[in-house]
Amino acid sequence: MRMRKKPNLGARLEAAGSVFAATPEEQRGRWRAAFGDYAEAHIEIGCGKGKFTAETAAANPDALLVAIERVPEAAVVAAERVIAAGIPNVRFIRGDANRLREYFAEAEIPRIYINFPDPWHKARHEKRRLTSPGYLAMYRDILAPGGEIRFRTDNVPLFGYSLETFPACGFALSGVTRDLHADGAATAATDYETKFIASGVKICSLTAVKE
Ligand SMILES: C[S@@+](CC[C@H](N)C(=O)[O-])C[C@H]1O[C@@H](n2cnc3c(N)ncnc32)[C@H](O)[C@@H]1O
Repeated sequence: MRMRKKPNLGARLEAAGSVFAATPEEQRGRWRAAFGDYAEAHIEIGCGKGKFTAETAAANPDALLVAIERVPEAAVVAAERVIAAGIPNVRFIRGDANRLREYFAEAEIPRIYINFPDPWHKARHEKRRLTSPGYLAMYRDILAPGGEIRFRTDNVPLFGYSLETFPACGFALSGVTRDLHADGAATAATDYETKFIASGVKICSLTAVKE
């Protein structure tokens, strides 16, 4: 996510410090109980400005939602949003999803959300796609048996690519749709998704279950 530099970013991050996990490696294997007594810990990768984060956590108060975002200008907006809404069950990691194995233990997580990741359409950038085999192997390691990934994108080529990589990497697909909102999606919309819906862009979605 490209965002304008915020001159007061440091002060804002400090003020929102209570919802950031400063040393996520130390919570590895203990997220569920580290910030309360939650039934489960879920992950959102690339939360951006956090609309989906806040709405999803509010709708699932028994689960801790750990939102990972590598761009601090976006993460701080998401953190401020969660604080302003008084939502207790979110923690943010300012970090990169390529370090998931450092942050989460094997089989720790029953659900991962990936919403509107950067498509990286050039073939030479395939490894950067969040649904490329290298990432899917990481997700498989930290997912519990039967754990799932809920994936949404507006990008048709990325969706087609992901329809091949998930099954090839040990996931069973369900809920595959190329027009999520025509089928009556009842879940929170992300910041990006809200703009797409307003301009009539169709949203592709699937759930990938670890086999
Ligand atoms: C296109 S935006 C979508 C944001 C949000 N999910 C939404 O739908 O509104 C993709 C976001 O993922 C973040 N991101 C991309 N790759 C990431 C990675 N490897 N680790 C952490 N965050 C990442 C970007 O910084 C950006 O904020």
